[in-house]
Amino acid sequence: PENIVSFIENDIVKGLPLFNKKVLITAGPTYEAIDPVRFIGNHSSGKMGFEIAKKAASLGAQVYLVTGPSYQTVSHSLIKRIDVVSAEEMYKEVHNYFSSVDIAILSAAVADYKPKNVATNKIKKSSNSMSIELVKTQDILASLGSIKEQQFLVGFALETNNELENAQGKLQRKNFDFIVLNSLRDKGAGFNHDTNKVTILNKAGKTKQFELKSKVAVATDIVEELKTLLNKK
Ligand code: PMT
Repeated sequence: PENIVSFIENDIVKGLPLFNKKVLITAGPTYEAIDPVRFIGNHSSGKMGFEIAKKAASLGAQVYLVTGPSYQTVSHSLIKRIDVVSAEEMYKEVHNYFSSVDIAILSAAVADYKPKNVATNKIKKSSNSMSIELVKTQDILASLGSIKEQQFLVGFALETNNELENAQGKLQRKNFDFIVLNSLRDKGAGFNHDTNKVTILNKAGKTKQFELKSKVAVATDIVEELKTLLNKK
């Protein structure tokens, strides 16, 4: 019976629209260590990225899901999950896969700064205040934008103000094909919710605004946008 199921599955996959496509997806937060017990992180749950991964796999794509610390689970024969913790680890894993993929979608909330020095031992509570010197992390998306060849590159923008302007700036500076904007000003959008409200902006200056909907449905909208681009190629 297993052989029959696997034969049927393989046959079905061949007819799917993303069959033979390789998709790299980043998800979740990154944690930047301060000492062995503390880190700088953010509220990303990984839900958005995991839903995109599931959608792409359900359409036949081979998915590489590079995720920061997340409680999300996924079980699909076409999804390879790669767990990382820090921005530096995510940068390395993403670069390992990028040259072999057709599409990269960066939905992770990557730390922009990390502590310059990581204390070897737990920092003791000795004074009323303390300072931590931070240095910039490498921008994974910008780096992929500068080396990309045939790949489609999709970025996210998480904003709290001047949303459209900021997202357009990122789209132009980082050389990707479209950007998915979500704003923390929209109720039910962004971190940790099961819903999101996004606007997709493309290189040609076109903007598509979507209603608040489940992250499952947002993932479908993003993958549909990609399919349109792939068909035009
Ligand atoms: O995980 P969830 O709880 O479901 O939440 C989903 C989400 C809110 C995290 C997601 O929808 C989202 O907006 N992800 C991007 C968050 C973000 O870091 O946005 P940004 O505007 O700071 O970054 C712009 C882009 O550059 C993003 O594609 C980001 O992945 C990328 N980036 C940022 C910094 C860095 N060092 N390297 C990067 O590649």
